[in-house]
Amino acid sequence: MTVTIVGSQLGDEGKGGIVDVYGEAADVVVRYQGGDNAGHTVVHEGEKYKLSLVPSGAVRGKVGVLGNGCVVNPETLFSELDTLREQGLTPDVRVAERAHAILPYHRVLDGIEEAEKEDLAAGTTGRGIGPTYEDKAGRRGVRIGDLLDPEVLRERLEYVVPQKRALVENVFGHDPDDEQFEGAFDIDALYEQYREYGERLADNGMAVNASAFLAAQREAGKNVMFEGAQGTSLDIDHGSYPYVTSSNPTAGGAAVGGGVGPTVVGQGEIVGIVKGYLSRVGTGPMPTELGFVEGQTPEDGGDTSDEAEELAKFIRDEGGEYGTVTGRPRRVGWLDMPMLRHAANVNGFTGLAVNHLDVLAGLDEVQVGHSYTLDTTEQSSASNQNATRSDDGEEILTMPATTEKWARCEANLRTFDGWADPDWTEVAAEGYDALPENAKAYLEYIADELETPIYVVGVGPGREDTVIVESVWD
Ligand code: IMP
Repeated sequence: MTVTIVGSQLGDEGKGGIVDVYGEAADVVVRYQGGDNAGHTVVHEGEKYKLSLVPSGAVRGKVGVLGNGCVVNPETLFSELDTLREQGLTPDVRVAERAHAILPYHRVLDGIEEAEKEDLAAGTTGRGIGPTYEDKAGRRGVRIGDLLDPEVLRERLEYVVPQKRALVENVFGHDPDDEQFEGAFDIDALYEQYREYGERLADNGMAVNASAFLAAQREAGKNVMFEGAQGTSLDIDHGSYPYVTSSNPTAGGAAVGGGVGPTVVGQGEIVGIVKGYLSRVGTGPMPTELGFVEGQTPEDGGDTSDEAEELAKFIRDEGGEYGTVTGRPRRVGWLDMPMLRHAANVNGFTGLAVNHLDVLAGLDEVQVGHSYTLDTTEQSSASNQNATRSDDGEEILTMPATTEKWARCEANLRTFDGWADPDWTEVAAEGYDALPENAKAYLEYIADELETPIYVVGVGPGREDTVIVESVWD
């Protein structure tokens, strides 16, 4: 059977912890989208492993698969595998021949295009994710399978690299041979480097027809887990476009990007991961935002009252809401129910895992954005005014489809009584009934609103800090 883990917000919901807990009984863990833009730390037998591309199950002896929907930077892949080996592990990772390779020029272009975009910049991770998916859709990408065939590799590079050189030079006004780009636009250098990666993939038997590989695994009765990266509101189709990533983290992406039928995903469990509050990295609207983060919160966004700033600091510090690599503070806010209702609609969750309830412990009151009201005072244009008049002042229960309209939404907050800060490991050991009553009321509200049962409650960072209500593999 299959279990699909999907982020229901803006990434960083604590998916890794749930993959860890539910992944115990999985034989194969598949990533179906994204690339090395997804940083996570896995703690296993007291050792810490930092991964951004390799599926986290690889740390625990599972077969890891990077599906066709992924974009793979071979340099990151091999460096993560080398580090895992140095740490004494023997990771088994397969890569779909149909997955696209990230090349150095994709990273360079990610940086240049972001700098050009100004207000439209998404605050990307700079890993070349968007430019690689652009080339995939433009049918000029280099796939993992191409790396194993030197003739095809050269042919692809000879077609695409001159286009990238022209783009950098003529559109963005940079010299593609400038030292700062370190040979990113040099066909011969790229050919040598990527041919070697191809050899290494072949020598280790890592490049596979992932769809056939997974079919054989399922045939043999193996449990397959699909591990989503990022989250629903960062989905290229269903997220807050253009402040999104370039792939489909939503459950449908598991079928397309894993190379299995929708029935395979649909017959299994689809678990939506919800952080008990909200965080956002990068720009874009966030109606329930508390406080203001320079360079990320839009100028007219955030609640900058002293009380909100204080709450933001509390949540950020308790939740460790600082970038793993950059250390920069993440934007934080209350749970956004219209965002979650939208996530439930597009993913068809069978269950929910609500994380980080311990972070909110100790607050007198916990709020949620139950719905939105459209702010009529911030019309951006006459046409917009006409288009939205019918919604003005109305209660909106799901996230609007346009980001401009979402930016004009004001959250209608509901207030819950807070809960104390017990020994969460003890609570987790006792189970759901031992959770503080007010925390249970909060969870039940979420489950009722989304018409989806709670499967797991996360009350701390470790596996032992997890309340498992429902086991998914039965
Ligand atoms: P990209 O995926 O690097 O192209 O970045 C696009 C947007 O997605 C940016 O706003 C990033 O901050 C966001 N993003 C990408 N990966 C993650 C993640 O793992 N967690 C949170 N945000 C992410």
